[in-house]
Amino acid sequence: MNTLVWTDGLAMSQPLMDHTHREFVDLLADFEDALDTPQAAQRFDELLAHTELHFAQEDRWMASLGFAPQNCHGLQHAQVLRALREVAQLQGRPEQAAVLRLILTELAAWFPAHASMMDAALAAVMAERGFDPETGRIGLPREPEAALITGCGSSSCS
Ligand SMILES: [Fe+2]
Ligand SMILES: [Fe+2]
Repeated sequence: MNTLVWTDGLAMSQPLMDHTHREFVDLLADFEDALDTPQAAQRFDELLAHTELHFAQEDRWMASLGFAPQNCHGLQHAQVLRALREVAQLQGRPEQAAVLRLILTELAAWFPAHASMMDAALAAVMAERGFDPETGRIGLPREPEAALITGCGSSSCS
């Protein structure tokens, strides 16, 4: 049994976001299954590559919807990516196996919290504004004079 498994509770009713998140959960499981094998670092690199695209996709959606470049959701993406890239640099070092195990535990705990707060808030803004992530079309475009969104969009974040 993997540390993190997909449940309906992780779904945001945003098909493209949910698809990407399912892929993340699957890649995390592949990485976990490869821990302590010679394939562990490669599975981790695949997870990192997917996470770069996953975060870039959400960052693009936020930019389209009028989130400020320094909004807290985007900043958290950057922080997580920095940590993952540091782990990727440990290739061949004696501490690599222990760090890979630790990052698995941290990612499995981090993802549901991030998804339920920041990604859910983004999905809600996407729905409110009639944003189609496939085409970039926005049903309710932002007023030109409206302030940029500096929080993640959730009610608990200003
Ligand atoms: Fe996400
Ligand atoms: Fe996110």
